[in-house]
Amino acid sequence: MYTASKQRYETMEYKRVGNSGLKLPYVSLGLWHNFGSLFPHSNSREMILGAFDLGITHFDLANNYGPIPGSAEETFGKVLKQDLQNYRDEIIISTKSGYYMWEGPYGEWGSRKQMIASLDQSLKRMGLEYVDIFYSHRPDMETPLEETISALVQAVRSGKALYVGLSNYDATRTKQAIDLLKAEGIHCLIHQPRYNIYDRRPENGLYQVLEEEGVGAIPFSPLEQGLLTNRYLNGIPADSRAAGDSIFLKTEQITQDRLKQIRALNDIAKERGQTLAQMALAWLHKSPVTSSVIIGASRLSQIEDCAQAHKAAPFTQEELDQIDRIVKG
Ligand SMILES: NC(=O)c1ccc[n+]([C@@H]2O[C@H](COP(=O)([O-])OP(=O)(O)OC[C@H]3O[C@@H](n4cnc5c(N)ncnc54)[C@H](OP(=O)(O)O)[C@@H]3O)[C@@H](O)[C@H]2O)c1
Repeated sequence: MYTASKQRYETMEYKRVGNSGLKLPYVSLGLWHNFGSLFPHSNSREMILGAFDLGITHFDLANNYGPIPGSAEETFGKVLKQDLQNYRDEIIISTKSGYYMWEGPYGEWGSRKQMIASLDQSLKRMGLEYVDIFYSHRPDMETPLEETISALVQAVRSGKALYVGLSNYDATRTKQAIDLLKAEGIHCLIHQPRYNIYDRRPENGLYQVLEEEGVGAIPFSPLEQGLLTNRYLNGIPADSRAAGDSIFLKTEQITQDRLKQIRALNDIAKERGQTLAQMALAWLHKSPVTSSVIIGASRLSQIEDCAQAHKAAPFTQEELDQIDRIVKG
């Protein structure tokens, strides 16, 4: 029987999400890779419980996480039931709907039919009565935004979600969605964009909208899927994401030029007294809009490393300029 560490709230930092009442841990754990039914349950359980012991109170899921799609939610549901039942009120669980999940015209995108059916399926897989955050996972240009938003509103009004969020929406559509929610008396809690030292797209308007609207941001792939860590400094380990079956990170992406940059970034991290992963996470937190970051992991030691990211000194302008020079060439 698992009992959570008594020290779990002693070292983690918690940040307010936009102008909401909710706080999230500096680092959250995402279950996109390594938590599906094709991975050993014992390792998934060890990472979830180990994260909770470190004060990581937020777990990010989606209907399609696996592989097999849906099985990461089942894994999480199993751990919740077996180990975390008594801690439900200390945990923020998110899920999303929008990417392909089942056959036919209602198995993906943003219709009300899709969104509500998917949320019901997610709740069932996790054995939950409600999730804390329900996201529209991606914009759907064929469905009126009003309809997708009405599904988020319905999720809150029916008690199946406490808060709602957006993911992968650009600045303009984000503002429209925030306004539609506002008209229904619901505050958009959070936006989940892809953002890291290499991928700067949220700086082109999105972060400004979020700041103006009091909406928090929780960047995903903050470590550029492992590139912004010590994982590939000395070659491509056989058990890494790049060496595996992932279609999202391939060995060809780890070029000599990239490696040179990563080694230079690693030198800055060392001078700051951080690991590269910790520095990459702290870099995202330099903006007050960033409420948390969602890391992925394949083993508990990576989560332990990331959980210390808030401990270093703030960046100097010189360090920030150096980082920009390295990645922009
Ligand atoms: N909303 C969306 O559309 C969307 C899309 C993608 C992801 N997400 C969310 O974001 C989460 C994170 O995405 P991601 O997995 O791409 O994030 P990431 O944090 O950029 O990359 C995670 C990978 O980095 C490596 N790693 C992590 N910590 C490390 C450390 N301290 N030292 C060395 N290596 C380390 C591991 O690689 P190895 O596996 O090689 O060990 C791990 O699997 C997902 O689980 C999901 O919840 C959302």
